[in-house]
Amino acid sequence: MNNQTNGHLPAFRAVITGHGSFAPTKLLTNDELAEMVDTSDEWITTRTGIKVRHITEDNESTAFLATEASKKALAEAKLDGRDLELIIVATITPEMVFPSTASFVQRALKAKKAWVFDLSAACSGFVYGLSIVQQFIESGRLNNALVIGAETLTKITDWTDRASCILFGDGAGAVVLQRKEDGRRGILYSTMHSDGNRWEALNCQAYGSRYPVSRELDDPKKIYMQIKGREVYQQAIRRIVETVKDCLDACDLSIDDLKMLVSHQMNARIIESAAKRLELPDEKVFININEYGNTSAASVPIAFDECVRKGKIKRGDIVLLVAFGAGLTWGANVIEF
Ligand code: UT7
Repeated sequence: MNNQTNGHLPAFRAVITGHGSFAPTKLLTNDELAEMVDTSDEWITTRTGIKVRHITEDNESTAFLATEASKKALAEAKLDGRDLELIIVATITPEMVFPSTASFVQRALKAKKAWVFDLSAACSGFVYGLSIVQQFIESGRLNNALVIGAETLTKITDWTDRASCILFGDGAGAVVLQRKEDGRRGILYSTMHSDGNRWEALNCQAYGSRYPVSRELDDPKKIYMQIKGREVYQQAIRRIVETVKDCLDACDLSIDDLKMLVSHQMNARIIESAAKRLELPDEKVFININEYGNTSAASVPIAFDECVRKGKIKRGDIVLLVAFGAGLTWGANVIEF
């Protein structure tokens, strides 16, 4: 599905007026992982680009991370929780089965006016969320919204599985989007895709309705994330390349017009291979997986926030956010920041 304006400028644009991120203070290094499973700093670094990841303590939950990132985004937008009309939390590690993680964020931010929900699209959740808000703002139904990507993946990590435990980390990122009438700046284009036939490539199967907590599991590992790394690796490169090309075509942009590709941080080699195929120079590709690992829905907003804070993206620059993950799902947003 594409959110496109077919050459007509919409009356309203969804503009990012605030952004923030938050990661737990506790760190887990590759060397520490090498004491837990048969791996090494050298293997993890060369195969993934990851050096260290942030991990939550027992008392740090997804809603807590989401709220901390949101406070920063709201402060930058000079808005108060009470101003918010919509809160979306993209996550696959929610606070509870129900109510939504977003309900807890709403409570913490005193966002009484907002309607709120969680969005489950794994690593693509944040770009899906921006696309939804884009629709509501462009149609004039919404003045402002908060979109958050927040994860505590280390709580569903199998610390005995070296193929997956080295990959993931915890964190949150958030953006405030506001309706502006200047016609140019804002989300220019969004595209979203899914392929449910490949659900087995990445999953965490218990405890939902298929494997309820009341029934003994045939495989106790079903409570953890399971990945088919090679399949994901190949699909990710293919889908990122085709999605970025689609975005550039749809917006009539060239690589020269693009200031930065902010990709979901799943593996530095995946991002670099996709960038090479797109002939994107290194300085237009942001990578921070070395410090965070893969934080699923949180990874794009954390990377975006860092990119701006490091001065790599400035107001008026064209930025492309792209994500790929479980479902399978993938999607992108083109933003004139
Ligand atoms: O956001 C979406 C979620 N992300 C993903 O699903 C990850 C996508 N996939 C990947 O990033 C890569 O496929 C991995 C990093 C997971 C694996 O890298 P790879 O280059 O695809 O390695 P591989 O799976 O082909 O395994 C190569 C070897 C195997 O040994 P043999 O069979 O060649 O003897 C593995 O057993 O590396 C071994 N291996 C490890 N060795 C040391 C697998 N994990 C490890 C490890 N340390 N942690």
